[in-house]
Amino acid sequence: MKSFINVSDLGDLKQALQEAQEIKKDRYKLTPLGRNRTLLMIFFNNSLRTRLSTQKAAMNLGMNVIVLDVNQGAWKLETERGVIMDGDKSEHLLEAIPVMGCYCDIIAVRSFAGLKDRDYDYAETVVNQFIRYSGRPVVAMETATVHPLQAFADLITIEEYKRVERPKVVLTWAPHCRALPQAVPNSFAQWMLAANVDLVVTHPEGYELDPAFVENATIEYDQHKALEGADFVYAKNWSCPGVTRPEDYGKILCDDRSWTIDEEHMSWTNEARFMHCLPVRRGLIVTDEVIEGPNSIVIPEAANREISATVVLKHMLRELN
Ligand code: CP
Repeated sequence: MKSFINVSDLGDLKQALQEAQEIKKDRYKLTPLGRNRTLLMIFFNNSLRTRLSTQKAAMNLGMNVIVLDVNQGAWKLETERGVIMDGDKSEHLLEAIPVMGCYCDIIAVRSFAGLKDRDYDYAETVVNQFIRYSGRPVVAMETATVHPLQAFADLITIEEYKRVERPKVVLTWAPHCRALPQAVPNSFAQWMLAANVDLVVTHPEGYELDPAFVENATIEYDQHKALEGADFVYAKNWSCPGVTRPEDYGKILCDDRSWTIDEEHMSWTNEARFMHCLPVRRGLIVTDEVIEGPNSIVIPEAANREISATVVLKHMLRELN
């Protein structure tokens, strides 16, 4: 695996889910695999779960880990070509990336969408430069448009908690006070469509996700209808993806608090489990009662981030060895 961006990069998904269960039984049995191998984790944006779980996964596999917060302690990086660098950015990404590649065997990158220029974000300009110039396998730790480590952990969690062979999984938009990227819902849709689930996506008009990710998923604009009979409710906010109106890309189009997941919303479901990638804003996305309730599985979902990252790094290390 030269890069981990999309669900197809992992190969056979059923097999990967089996590997996840095996790793859960004994997460340290592959410690020799990463001996004298180094993971470099580059953060352009903040993180709690991704930082800790990916580092733990690398340690499970016996790897050394270096973490670099680009905005704290490194030179400020220019990412555009063709600019005169007479501002506050001291180093260009095109030198920094191959230098980073000199010090590691695998690079993991977090670089969020700027939400200003849809073409720039959806071209995955930053992570593609890492893939092209680092000379190392690259793991997406949430890029402009995808968050595959999260989506893989979400799928592992659904497999563990499902009560029927093909559960109904509802991805629902929920309100938020800040404009957020589409990476989590994009990847969630992509991974659910590759898995054995019945995916329904619900959001207000204008929030249509990019067809490259939702393909032929069922879209239901009536949240109540969408939630009926759901086995899993996956709540997430995202800003306008700019599919129908490119000029609205990255904007907040709706602040309708009736989309907040509360106990009434959950009562429309088939005693659904509640999921969210975290961090979550209580009172906007979900009420205290739901996230603290017996059907909330947000903590085991976060715990599975260590498992998804361990499987991905294992695949990459196997190809290096
Ligand atoms: N879910 C997730 O990626 O969490 P962090 O942003 O804290 O890493």
